[in-house]
Amino acid sequence: MRIATLSWLAPLAGTAVSITIEPTSADSIRNAASTVAFDLMSYYRGNISGETPGILPQPFFWWEGGGMFMTMIDYWRYTGDSSYNAVTSQALQAQVGENNDYMPQNQTKNEGNDDQGFWAMAAMLAAETNFPNPPQDKPQWLALAQAVFNEHASRWETEHCGGGLRWQIFQFNKGFDYKNSISNGAFFNLGTRLARYTGNDTYAQWAEKIWDWQESVKFIDADYNIFDGSSLNENCTVISPLQWTYNAGIFLHGAANMFNYSKGSSIWRDRTAGLLNTTARVFFNQTIMEEQACEQPNTCNTDQLSFKAYFSGWLAATTILAPFTESTINPLLASSAVAAGQQCSGGASKSQCGFRWTQRDANDGNFGIGQSMSALAVIHSAMVTIPRAAAVIDGGSTGGGSTGGGGQPGQVPVTGSAPPSFAPVTNSTGGTSQGDPNAGIGTPGRESVMIDVIKTTEKDTVAASFLTAAVALSVIGGSFIMVYE
Ligand SMILES: *[C@@H]1O[C@H](CO)[C@@H](O)[C@H](O)[C@H]1NC(C)=O
Ligand SMILES: *[C@@H]1O[C@H](CO)[C@@H](O)[C@H](O)[C@H]1NC(C)=O
Ligand SMILES: *[C@@H]1O[C@H](CO)[C@@H](O)[C@H](O)[C@H]1NC(C)=O
Ligand SMILES: *[C@@H]1O[C@H](CO)[C@@H](O)[C@H](O)[C@H]1NC(C)=O
Ligand SMILES: *[C@@H]1O[C@H](CO)[C@@H](O)[C@H](O)[C@H]1NC(C)=O
Ligand SMILES: *[C@@H]1O[C@H](CO)[C@@H](O)[C@H](O)[C@H]1NC(C)=O
Ligand SMILES: *[C@@H]1O[C@H](CO)[C@@H](O)[C@H](O)[C@H]1NC(C)=O
Ligand SMILES: *[C@@H]1O[C@H](CO)[C@@H](O)[C@H](O)[C@H]1NC(C)=O
Repeated sequence: MRIATLSWLAPLAGTAVSITIEPTSADSIRNAASTVAFDLMSYYRGNISGETPGILPQPFFWWEGGGMFMTMIDYWRYTGDSSYNAVTSQALQAQVGENNDYMPQNQTKNEGNDDQGFWAMAAMLAAETNFPNPPQDKPQWLALAQAVFNEHASRWETEHCGGGLRWQIFQFNKGFDYKNSISNGAFFNLGTRLARYTGNDTYAQWAEKIWDWQESVKFIDADYNIFDGSSLNENCTVISPLQWTYNAGIFLHGAANMFNYSKGSSIWRDRTAGLLNTTARVFFNQTIMEEQACEQPNTCNTDQLSFKAYFSGWLAATTILAPFTESTINPLLASSAVAAGQQCSGGASKSQCGFRWTQRDANDGNFGIGQSMSALAVIHSAMVTIPRAAAVIDGGSTGGGSTGGGGQPGQVPVTGSAPPSFAPVTNSTGGTSQGDPNAGIGTPGRESVMIDVIKTTEKDTVAASFLTAAVALSVIGGSFIMVYE
């Protein structure tokens, strides 16, 4: 077996040095991922004295921190390198907010359901991977995911479009009158995973309902294309036709969770297969991943530059939950990881990854957090393509259960073996995260956060709309809660 197979292309005249990935070698993937992870985390200042943990520098929005630390949990899961676990844990705990629901006061006035969902999906991934638990007196990963799920459920709105979550939580934000696939996708994705993790079917019933609604408004069409969303002023009939990798990924991974949770039901098998069929056609250019709505014209914005990261993670996770997808997904991940590595030759580090992987080693010079995160995710995700036994090199310690802080970033020992299984745990298969099915709405103090937001914005109409919303709210399980009384 090959050890330390990270190789560098000889610097030929006119050819940039890039990261060569041997997609059949676990060590090659680990080494490449380690280099890219170091570059990515070099952008992060949140753990430096005087900065705020979890917050990315301007112009990055709050949600992307959640996306980045979600990606860093996958990095640890797939490579076993725990160098960034401490900083990841710190960030995920720092942003839980005063009510342990990922609505910290600093963010609530412009926080959307999708933003909250990304942090919650990071917490959910922490639970599924047995990422080291926070201290007992701090909110736990599973309970945090449940809190956000419960709040999403309370915001389900049937007055327009027959259901669905709005994009925004608050009326004073642009997008309050928009319903979209990513917000409903985050709610769906969390529901499917909570069902699988806890075995509580209520979550699965919600997931079915969200899926059905997405189809009813044709945000998911008969060919499994997933569109961005629609204004509710037209009752969701005028749909933005844009398709994004992260929408495809969030629903594909959710469907795979439902397939797995239902022990292989044919309906979820068909949905998983149908989504994958379309996903593979729309978002891959000659087997290389591409953000087709904006990548070639170079118009991807800050957010969009990171979507391929989450998409990669969800594709990899889909193969674990629905093994019948491996034969389609594995070659795409392996090919995209190799191509992404070829883009990693720029910047001061000489390993910064460009964004247009289809250009192979002609570096496109497009560097940044999203670009590095996307390259990192597709590279470590390619670990799932390696037969698990072959990934075990020295029988040494596994990734699972490692604690943070150890190791020198960028200098991972190449002898560390991959975990024997990447299967996400559940509460009956070794999962240790503590849940709270009643987390979220109804938590004492919840109301005061809202009132503070109203005060900060000094908009009377907001208070009025909150009241309307509160009356319309009903909480899963049949109980009714007045949030603002
Ligand atoms: C911040 O985290 C990085 C890892 O990303 C680590 O190398 C560095 O020492 C940390 N800084 C502080 C001040 O803890
Ligand atoms: C909120 O913002 C203040 C001021 O920038 C900062 O000191 C504090 O750490 C922030 N809190 C969180 C949880 O982000
Ligand atoms: C709005 O859309 C929903 C779901 O498609 C539909 O059930 C409802 O009848 C529509 N309402 C109006 C006023 O068109
Ligand atoms: C798993 O979670 C469910 C729902 O909360 C609970 O009923 C069950 O007892 C849990 N099982 C274990 C082994 O903890
Ligand atoms: C569910 O996921 C587990 C873990 O990867 C896998 O072993 C099992 O085969 C999956 N179930 C189905 C029905 O594919
Ligand atoms: C894949 O998609 C194409 C185009 O929509 C369709 O013709 C084909 O039947 C689909 N295949 C599967 C297996 O779903
Ligand atoms: C596929 O990638 C190549 C190389 O970057 C590019 O020229 C071409 O336009 C891409 N095709 C599509 C459909 O995006
Ligand atoms: C199942 O989940 C629902 C929704 O969060 C909750 O109301 C209920 O108490 C849960 N049941 C158990 C046994 O945990």
